[in-house]
Amino acid sequence: MFRVLTILLVFSCSVLFAQQDEFSYMGVNNCKMCHNKKDKGAQFNVWSEGPHARAFETLKSEEALKIATELKLEGSPHEAGECLGCHTTGWGKADGYEVLSADFIGNPKNARAVKKNDSKANVGCETCHGPGSGYKSKKTMNGIFNGAIDPATVGLFAPEKNVCITCHNEKSPTFKKFDFDAMAAKIAHPYPEEFKATKGTPGGK
Ligand code: HEC
Ligand code: HEC
Ligand code: HEC
Ligand code: HEC
Repeated sequence: MFRVLTILLVFSCSVLFAQQDEFSYMGVNNCKMCHNKKDKGAQFNVWSEGPHARAFETLKSEEALKIATELKLEGSPHEAGECLGCHTTGWGKADGYEVLSADFIGNPKNARAVKKNDSKANVGCETCHGPGSGYKSKKTMNGIFNGAIDPATVGLFAPEKNVCITCHNEKSPTFKKFDFDAMAAKIAHPYPEEFKATKGTPGGK
């Protein structure tokens, strides 16, 4: 009996610890300041003109309201957990996007926090690259690029198909199909060849 209890205790503790997120979300402005230069591929600018940068606004569209009515959703889609999970950054996770009350937003003291939260609306960089608190410093970023730091140890993960299909799947009310190669090409924001010729390729390869 005691052994069973101990095993249960150890098990529930490990579940608790597993749920604690090691890295937190910073918002897209934290990436913008270093990733908007043309000679380096201006990843921020490419992103801001692409579909993921409007994912939150989409939830205010006629089409979104129609979907919400069909699903008998309570409240507005842009405030509903049923929609926000795939249309924002880090929903439900440490420092991810959250729905703020009108009172909180109305208080001038909260201006900074509101702005920070706004920068996590939409499908930002960190939804695909991982929460940025551990890797966003210049030193760490260069270390990853040169191959001196293993990206996984600082929370930067490879944005492969498995990441995309956490949202591009049949739980999306508008889902049809997901072809990774075709879809990745549509949102591509690579380093220019000239940049790689002088600075090398990611991961020190
Ligand atoms: C957090 C959820 C999420 C993740 C992860 C995600 N997407 Fe999306 N994606 C969306 C949403 C939401 C839209 C719709 C945006 C809109 O139109 O408002 C979208 C739209 C798109 C579109 C435009 C729609 C189309 O059919 O042309 C492409 C292309 C796309 N995503 C590619 C990708 C790729 C490639 C990945 C992985 C590397 C990925 N997405 C990861 C949520 C996500
Ligand atoms: C499982 C993730 C997921 C959930 C949950 C989700 N969406 Fe989306 N949504 C997506 C993705 C991915 C796209 C883009 C590709 C697609 O249509 O599957 C998208 C696209 C859309 C579009 C644009 C479609 C177009 O043709 O441009 C609307 C509108 C939309 N979603 C509304 C909603 C509403 C309203 C909810 C909540 C009831 C919701 N979504 C919940 C992932 C999701
Ligand atoms: C202080 C500046 C700075 C900030 C902030 C920053 N980066 Fe970087 N990042 C760099 C530098 C420098 C490199 C190395 C390549 C280069 O010179 O552009 C890099 C490289 C990368 C790479 C390629 C890594 C590889 O595989 O080699 C990714 C992906 C990336 N950054 C994503 C992000 C994201 C997402 C954010 C926001 C959470 C972010 N960065 C914030 C400076 C920054
Ligand atoms: C929908 C997912 C998604 C979003 C959002 C996204 N990226 Fe990426 N990113 C990718 C994919 C996929 C690659 C290609 C990875 C590869 O080639 O291994 C990539 C590659 C990169 C690279 C390396 C380029 C190269 O040539 O290897 C940098 C730097 C980068 N992203 C920065 C950003 C920044 C900054 C943002 C936000 C402004 C952002 N990404 C938003 C999926 C995304």
